[in-house]
Amino acid sequence: MGRPRKRAFPVENVRRYLEPGPILLLTSAHDGERDVMTLGWHTVMEFSPSLVGCVISRANHSHHLVRSSSQCVLNLPGEALLDTAVRIGNCSGSERDKFAEFGLNARAGSKVAAPRLLDCHACFECQLFDDALVERYDFFIFEVVAAQAIPGPPPRTFHYRGEGEFMLSGESVDRRALFEPWML
Ligand SMILES: Cc1cc2nc3c(=O)[nH]c(=O)nc-3n(C[C@H](O)[C@H](O)[C@H](O)COP(=O)(O)O)c2cc1C
Repeated sequence: MGRPRKRAFPVENVRRYLEPGPILLLTSAHDGERDVMTLGWHTVMEFSPSLVGCVISRANHSHHLVRSSSQCVLNLPGEALLDTAVRIGNCSGSERDKFAEFGLNARAGSKVAAPRLLDCHACFECQLFDDALVERYDFFIFEVVAAQAIPGPPPRTFHYRGEGEFMLSGESVDRRALFEPWML
């Protein structure tokens, strides 16, 4: 029995395989206004300083709050917030208060003015580190300047696979024995 044959795959759909980092709720605030959006396009870029890159489309109201304030909070929701996150990502905060509408409990960050979502498992407070790619790609490079997380194992996170389909995080497997010690 040979290995299964691959077929040509539409390049615009490779996201269905590459996208799944945990879905985050990105909160921002500027000039008395605040907003929250759903975010799947993020990537870790460095440990120290702790850098995370995010695509925040300029079509989103959040883009303008983040650009004006140079700050945001990346909030990590668990499975219980899946439907809420989908709804948050399907409407704009330009003319509505999504915090009130979705019953989100929020408190200002410890180092940034953007709100932390209290019902999320972890909150990563971010300061803009480099805006070199914002104009061209809507790609913001943030430094995480403070973080809070519930101790213990992470929650079941949800990961977007495109076309309305999500994947829930599953079992952990330990391969510590195969790592160079300095890699751990
Ligand atoms: C599962 C999911 C993932 C999303 N990921 C992103 C993303 O990474 N970047 C982005 O700009 N928009 C993303 N969006 C879309 C925004 O969350 C959506 O446009 C939202 O309505 C923006 O809200 P705002 O206008 O209040 O900022 C995503 C939406 C969903 C449902």
